[in-house]
Amino acid sequence: MSFKIAFFDTKPYDKISFMTVNQNYGYELVFFEARLTRQTASLAKGFSAVCVFVNDILSSEVIEELHSYGVKLIVLRCAGYNNVDFKTAYNKINVVRVPAYSPCAVAEHAMAMLLCLNRKLHRAYNRTREGNFSLNGLLGYDLKGKTAGIIGTGKIAKCFISILMGFGINILAYDLFPDITYAEENNIVYTSLEDLLRKSDIVSLHCPLSKDNIHMIDAKAIALMKKNSVIINTGRGKLIDTKALIDALVNGRILGACLDVYEEESNYFFEDKSDEPITDGLLARLIGLPNVLLTSHQAFFTKDALDNIAETSLANIKEFITGRPLTNEICYKCTKGVCNKQRRERCF
Ligand code: NAI
Repeated sequence: MSFKIAFFDTKPYDKISFMTVNQNYGYELVFFEARLTRQTASLAKGFSAVCVFVNDILSSEVIEELHSYGVKLIVLRCAGYNNVDFKTAYNKINVVRVPAYSPCAVAEHAMAMLLCLNRKLHRAYNRTREGNFSLNGLLGYDLKGKTAGIIGTGKIAKCFISILMGFGINILAYDLFPDITYAEENNIVYTSLEDLLRKSDIVSLHCPLSKDNIHMIDAKAIALMKKNSVIINTGRGKLIDTKALIDALVNGRILGACLDVYEEESNYFFEDKSDEPITDGLLARLIGLPNVLLTSHQAFFTKDALDNIAETSLANIKEFITGRPLTNEICYKCTKGVCNKQRRERCF
């Protein structure tokens, strides 16, 4: 059966992984470089499904338009789903995602950023290439014996915690839904967000973004943090109030920040903008700070993760076509925590 899928925001590496895995499925894949927005939604005319990434916009208007073209399935080739208006999609278009393609890829990147920022490897690399062998300004600290506060203890956080524990780092955790069994088995202490912020030398964000936790790390939260603490964000940019973070970094309120995500990243991340001035003042400021390490939503980017994303996305589509329950469906009720999980019959 011919099943046409329109890919948005496609990069060369997406094409390679999806075309390779599609040899086992045989769907008709059409790759568009454009992001999905109101302006580009008409490209989806004649397609059965759209396959989208983190910065495509699945607003109410876009979903209504896709629905009017007969699009039946939105395939998120990512884990996060904060860019989808589930209320509108409800009862119109099914939405599937890749809940876990490589939690370790993200966790390993978080650790790489922490090690790099702490030991100033980014600066040392440039220095030695220029014949500067001075150590001034490169002072780090031992990670062993420090305390890491982990916000959100899902799949990525659990990988990160096991890496941190290998370094002899103590763990404090905060989650809306603590995993008590996991905590008992691994000697993890759950606490309140405030207590975690007060006691941690490293604070790392691993919860999804929702309407309820935008700027959960704001000036008030940062004021609770230790003076020499470092914050890591591989979650979503809007979890942190960037302006408040910059103030804290400039004033020495906290020591540093490892950021793989940024609140307004959609205007810059994933694109080569090296020929243009950066007009986003906050982004320019962050990049200019020596105590900030910023990567372009790169944490997921391993070959293993790309292969898993393609395999799971195409398997999700196969389930849809063959009428089986959609293992990785996410709907309005799921986002409210009241989905009965009896899906395919649809939970609505
Ligand atoms: P997960 O669903 O396995 O775990 C999320 C955890 O956060 C759950 O335990 C949940 O109870 C908890 N949580 C939800 N809301 C919370 C809140 N307001 N406060 C505290 N805890 C809360 O998710 P997973 O796979 O570990 O991914 C976490 C996030 O990482 C994703 O939602 C996504 O935004 C981000 N991500 C980033 C990537 C990157 O390349 N930088 C790649 C993949 C995911």
